[in-house]
Amino acid sequence: MDHTLPIETLSDEAAKAELATLARVLGDANRAYHTNDAPDLSDADYDRLKARNLALETRFPHLKRADSPSDQVGAPVADGFSKVRHVQRMMSLGNAFDDSDVSDFVGGIRKFLGLGADAPLAFTAEPKIDGLSLSLRYEGGVLVQAATRGDGETGENVTANARTIADIPQTLMGAPDILEVRGEVYMSHDDFTALNTRQEAGGAKPFANPRNAAAGSLRQLDAAITRARPLRFFAYAWGDLSSPLADTQMGAIERLGALGFQINALTARCDTSQAMIAHYRGIEAQRATLGYDIDGVVYKVDDLGYQARLGLRSTTPRWAIAHKFPAELAWTRLDEIDIQVGRTGALSPVARLAPVTVGGVVVSNATLHNEDYIAGLDAQGGQIRGGKDIRVGDWVQVYRAGDVIPKIADVDLSKRPDDAVPFVFPDHCPRCDSAAIREPGDAVRRCTGGMICPAQAVEKLKHFVGRAAFDIEGLGAKQVEQFYHDGWIREPADIFQLETRYGSGLQQLKNRDGWGDKSATNLFQAISDKRRIPLARLIFALGLRHVGEVAAATLARHFGTWGALIGAVDQAAGEPAYAAAEPKARKAALPDSPAWASLTGIDGIGDVLAEALITALQQPAERASVTRLTDQLDIQPAEAPAQSDSPVAGKTVVFTGTLEKMTRAEAKARAEALGAKVSGSVSAKTDLLVAGPGAGSKAKKAADLGVETLDEDGWLQLIGDL
Ligand code: IVH
Repeated sequence: MDHTLPIETLSDEAAKAELATLARVLGDANRAYHTNDAPDLSDADYDRLKARNLALETRFPHLKRADSPSDQVGAPVADGFSKVRHVQRMMSLGNAFDDSDVSDFVGGIRKFLGLGADAPLAFTAEPKIDGLSLSLRYEGGVLVQAATRGDGETGENVTANARTIADIPQTLMGAPDILEVRGEVYMSHDDFTALNTRQEAGGAKPFANPRNAAAGSLRQLDAAITRARPLRFFAYAWGDLSSPLADTQMGAIERLGALGFQINALTARCDTSQAMIAHYRGIEAQRATLGYDIDGVVYKVDDLGYQARLGLRSTTPRWAIAHKFPAELAWTRLDEIDIQVGRTGALSPVARLAPVTVGGVVVSNATLHNEDYIAGLDAQGGQIRGGKDIRVGDWVQVYRAGDVIPKIADVDLSKRPDDAVPFVFPDHCPRCDSAAIREPGDAVRRCTGGMICPAQAVEKLKHFVGRAAFDIEGLGAKQVEQFYHDGWIREPADIFQLETRYGSGLQQLKNRDGWGDKSATNLFQAISDKRRIPLARLIFALGLRHVGEVAAATLARHFGTWGALIGAVDQAAGEPAYAAAEPKARKAALPDSPAWASLTGIDGIGDVLAEALITALQQPAERASVTRLTDQLDIQPAEAPAQSDSPVAGKTVVFTGTLEKMTRAEAKARAEALGAKVSGSVSAKTDLLVAGPGAGSKAKKAADLGVETLDEDGWLQLIGDL
C-alpha cells in the first residue's frame, strides 16, 4: 500500500483501509521487536509509518481504531535496551521519618568517626527529587553513555534518549578526563499536565504522575518519543572519576554547576542537626510551589574525606540519608478483602478499595499486613488504631509513603454499616485448600501445601527467574505463568528440561502468543547459558525463607561451594538433639555444637536463618526438588572477596584495646571492605590481632596461641592507609 498519498486527498474509505494496514504492519513490527525476532522493519521505516498513522488519525479522528498503534507507545519496553554495568554501584538511600531519626543519623556518624559532640561536622541538605536516577559518563569531556539505575549494579543503556534532554550537556569544558555525573530525571508539573492533555487528545492513556511520565518517557526505545517529552535533569552526585571534583560535597555540587549542569538552588550547607531540620521545614513549606515533585530532603556529610571513611553498606551510603515528608492520606470505602498467597506460603490480606486519589496517584489496593493487623492488634497483642478492627464495608484512611504499597491507617467507626461483620481470616489456603497454619510467635499464617500449592509454586518460580536470581532473558513472570499453566514447568528443575522435553517444543512454542522460531531459540539459549550459575545467585534463587540477597551472598562467600553448604546443613540437622526434637521445639533445642555453630557462627547468619535453612533443605520433597535442579547446573564457586589482592583478604582479624585513629565500627567496616572477617574473640582461627593501648586478655590469648599481633599503626601500614 502506498503510504505517501497526500492526506487531504484521501476519502474516508481510503483512510480507513490505510489505518487498518498500518495497525497490522506496526502491530507485527511491535510483536517482532518484543519477542526478539529480527524486526522486518527498519527503525526509520517504523518511525515514518507511525507518524503517518498519527497524521491520518489527526485528520480523520472518527476513524481511529480501538487497536491504534498510537496507543501502544507508553509501554516500557525494557527488553530492548542493552545493559550497562555500573563501574561504581548506584546507591539508594536510607530513610529518616522524623526529627529523632535525623539526630540519630548525625549521632551515629559522630560515633563512627569518633567525633565529640562539639567537633565541627557539616552536612548538605537538598530536595529529594521524585524522578528516576541516571548516570552520565563523560570521557575527555564528551558524553559517551547514559544508564538508568536498574538494580544498582546493572542499568539500561539509554544514551540516545539522554542526548535529547536539554539539561544534559553533550560536552564539558575543564572536566576530569573520566567523569560520571549522577542525578535525577524528572518532569515539571506544567509539562506533565500538558503532556497528559496531549496524550488524552490522542486517545492515549494519561500518566498517573510526573515520575511515571518521566520514567515512561526516558525508557522509550524510540528516542524520537523521548525528544518530544519535556524531561529535565538535576545533578546531585557522581560515580567513577579520574580526579576529585572538590574536597566537599557542596564544592563538588558547585563544580558540577560550573560545568553546565542544573543543580538545585535549595541546596544548603548546615552545621547542626537543628539547621538541617530547619532547612527541611523550609523546603517542605515551599513544596507545593516548586513546580516539580519532591518527596523529602537528602542530607549528606559535607567533608568528602569523612564520606570516604564512612563508606557504603550493601545498597546505601553511611554518609547520607533521606528525610521523607509525611505520608499523604485519603478516606475511602473498603469493598473486599482478598487473600494472596506468596512464595513462602504466607497468606497476605489485601484491601480492595473504592478508587481514591492519594497524593496524585489513584489507589485501589492497600496491604492489610496480617490477621492481627485487621483485628486491631500489634505483634505483641497490644492495640493499634485504639483496637478498632477493619471490616468489609468500612471507611478507611489510606496513606502512601514514597513508593511503598499503600497502607491503611485508620477506620471511621461512625460510618460502619450496621451489617458489617468482623473479618474471619481463613485457616485454609484459598488456592489449594491445604491447612494454613500460624506458628506461635509468627504474625503470618502460612499455607502448608508447599509445591502442591499452585500459588506458592508460581511465586517461587517467578522469584527463581527474577533479576537477582537466574535472570533468564525471555522468561519473565508472564511466561512462567504460561508454562506453569500448561504443566511444562512445575519446579525450577523443569526449566532446564524445557528444550529436551518440549524440544520439538520449538514447534509447539511457535504459534503461541508472542512466540516465534527466533524467540523460542533465544529462550532455550538463554536457559542453557544460565546452567553455569554463581553460587550466591543459586542460593538466593531457591527462595528460602529469610534468605535474601545479602544472606545468600554471605553464605556463598563463607562456604565457597554448594557441596560445603549442603554438607554443613546436613551435619547441623544430624545433631542428635536437633533431630530428636519435635519440629516446633527445634529452635529451643538448638544445641551449642560445632556443626550448629558452623552455621550460626557466620557473621550475619543468625539462629532464625540457620533454622529456616535446615528446615527447608531437610524437607524431603523440597530437597529432592533442589537436587533435581542442582544436578543440571554447573555451580560456580563463590568469588573471592571483592579485594582479594588486599593483604588481609580472607583473614580473620580481631580488634582490641583503644583505637586512636579510627573508631571500632570504622575499623571493622574498613577491614570487611578489604575482604577480612572481623571477629570479637581470639581463637586458633584468628589470623591477626590489632591491639591498641589497654589491650588485656585478648592480647595475652593471642600471644599464647602464637597469633600475629600488630598495633594500630602497624595495621594501617599493612592495609596501606598510613
Ligand atoms: S543521593 C549516593 N540526592 O533518591 C547517594 N538521591 O531513594 C545517591 N534522589 O536513587 C543518591 N534526589 O534516585 C540523592 N538530591 C538527591 C536525590 C536523590 C532524588 C533519588 C535517587 C536515589 C533515590 C534514593
